[in-house]
Amino acid sequence: MKLPVKSLDELKHAAEQLVAFGGSEKIFLFYGDMGAGKTTLIKSLCENLGVNEPATSPTFSIVNEYQGTLSKIYHFDFYRLKNQSEALDLGYEEYFYSGNYCFIEWPEKIPDLLPDHYIRVDVEVVSDNERLLTFTKI
Ligand SMILES: Nc1ncnc2c1ncn2[C@@H]1O[C@H](COP(=O)(O)OP(=O)(O)OP(=O)(O)O)[C@@H](O)[C@H]1O
Ligand SMILES: [Mg+2]
Repeated sequence: MKLPVKSLDELKHAAEQLVAFGGSEKIFLFYGDMGAGKTTLIKSLCENLGVNEPATSPTFSIVNEYQGTLSKIYHFDFYRLKNQSEALDLGYEEYFYSGNYCFIEWPEKIPDLLPDHYIRVDVEVVSDNERLLTFTKI
């Protein structure tokens, strides 16, 4: 499914669409260049799921945990991962298979550890405030 997002204001709608597209799938992998808007979209998703605190980029830790209305949310940013064994060390499987939402930035860093099924989200920059989102069920 392709979803054009014309401005930051439309992200709320995009987040609703993405959660609906996911259905019972709780694991979402986000692909896109640096600064494409992965964290910004995840922030909007967290708001949609009832998180009160702001979802900031997990700069200091690989995984941040938030409390939504119905479930916990784990937000991963693997950008700074040096190798895949670091993901093993942080116990990524416990998070992935917990049944809670998992939003994962830079899944390219863990090519051998990807779950069997997930929603792939591609974020492409169209112009300053415009993005093209593509949702795919894997
Ligand atoms: N429609 C839009 N959707 C998402 N971000 C947008 C949009 N329009 C403008 N932006 C801006 O683009 C920037 C996206 O930054 P963000 O940190 O979300 O990127 P990122 O993909 O997470 O990058 P990184 O790979 O470094 O983590 C923000 O400054 C945000 O305000
Ligand atoms: Mg980010």
